[in-house]
Amino acid sequence: NITKPTVIIVFGGNGDLTKRKIIPALYNLFLENRLPEKFAIIGTSRTEFKDQKYRDLLLDGINEFSRTGKAKKEDWAKFSEKITYQASNIKDVGSYNEFADKISDYKKEWKEDISTLYYCAVSPDLFCTIAENVSKSKLENNRETTRMIIEKPFGRDLESAKTLNAKLLTIFDEKQIYRIDHYLGKEVVQNVMAFRFANTIMEPLWNRTHIEHVQISVTEKIGVEDRGSYFDNAGILRDMIQNHLLQLLCIIAMEPPINFDADLVRDRKVEVLKAIRKIVPGSVDSMAVRGQYGSGWVEGKEVPAYRDELDVKPDSNTETYAAMKFYVDNWRWQGIPFYLRTGKRLFKSDSHIIIQFKEVPHNMFQNQERNIPKANRLIISIQPDMAIKFQLESKTPGLEMTLNTVDMVFDYSGKTKGDSPEAYETLLLDVISGDQTLFMRADQVEAAWEVVMPILDYWENNKNADFPNYPANSWGPENADALIAKDGFHWINLP
Ligand code: BG6
Repeated sequence: NITKPTVIIVFGGNGDLTKRKIIPALYNLFLENRLPEKFAIIGTSRTEFKDQKYRDLLLDGINEFSRTGKAKKEDWAKFSEKITYQASNIKDVGSYNEFADKISDYKKEWKEDISTLYYCAVSPDLFCTIAENVSKSKLENNRETTRMIIEKPFGRDLESAKTLNAKLLTIFDEKQIYRIDHYLGKEVVQNVMAFRFANTIMEPLWNRTHIEHVQISVTEKIGVEDRGSYFDNAGILRDMIQNHLLQLLCIIAMEPPINFDADLVRDRKVEVLKAIRKIVPGSVDSMAVRGQYGSGWVEGKEVPAYRDELDVKPDSNTETYAAMKFYVDNWRWQGIPFYLRTGKRLFKSDSHIIIQFKEVPHNMFQNQERNIPKANRLIISIQPDMAIKFQLESKTPGLEMTLNTVDMVFDYSGKTKGDSPEAYETLLLDVISGDQTLFMRADQVEAAWEVVMPILDYWENNKNADFPNYPANSWGPENADALIAKDGFHWINLP
């Protein structure tokens, strides 16, 4: 258990992320006795609130969004004592000095040194302002105990990501910066490391000799909701592929690290990104497909086309769907395609990875009723179902030799989403304990931008005349099917 006293200042303390994710995660860690005994949260934003009013707002958030459901009165009473609020002006050093005074009161009360965490749950254009004001103010910036937490997007292209990293690194050490990609905190995603590296049967199969192709799919039923102004400037390539999907690819493709040291693990991931074959501008159309949703019907209700959503330009060229193919040019993966797809307003919300194995080299079942063994498949379901499933061929019980595909399933023993920690719980506990393994290092972020830049540039400079090119509640544009079909495969939609 972590014992070092900790104070966390949450910038954007009245924002959506704080209410939906950060506070429910800290509350659940508290319920599990995972927080240091001496722990304080200081929420801050421009608006004036009394502490009590602020706590009430956060309680509403927990009651609505926490995986453990409504807070029990006595638990909340104990937890909420740790929360105070201070209105501030992020751009004014004076506000930071007030935080420093508050923290020094905690120090006096606790009579110990403390860790200070600055959580920037604000628009990315304020990350540098916060960092600068921390450095100009009386606030602590100790290399061992001060940490800065930021959320994507980390820049909007390679250049701006480099500028952001460089700026932050003039104030903090890389070891102090925790860049969140919340997909890395998901339970099943973490288990891929255990599955791959704690089982001897995986490694001999995990390469171009036995694997035919890999599919990484993150489909969402929701549209852009109230995030039109952010999303219309970003698009799904920036919002999902540059970070979440490429990180999943890294976990599947990475070489085994020597141990779980944060830098060794991240070195292996960066190597994957660097090995991804560069898409040359002339070949973007054969390697990547974009889509934008039109209107449609979802559960009996008509939903608007993307261009009719709030804060979206009526002639927007922004993509809400992307599918693409990558090759990882190294010894293990030479010639094996990795297909990625993600989109909004699709038929189903489902995140999974499929490892499609090759067919048997020789078929000895030719005289049987079902006479071609199907190739094996490993299905890693991240959400909403959590499961890791092998599809194997088996004899159908009975007098004949008939083949049948059966599942060997690890389904987390029937545990449901509410039983296992949310990504933010894992990640926040890691920040508090100072473990950077699941956080994006500066070079990782930049290497991921390098992978997507040719597509990003091409898409921005060439409008897509076909938009909208898929209806809401469908599986995306037809040319995404064609992208994979030309290699002889198809997208695998799980039931
Ligand atoms: C976020 C994206 O990073 O991830 C959103 O900005 C997306 O557009 C979300 O909806 C998906 O996360 P999850 O955990 O719901 O799959």
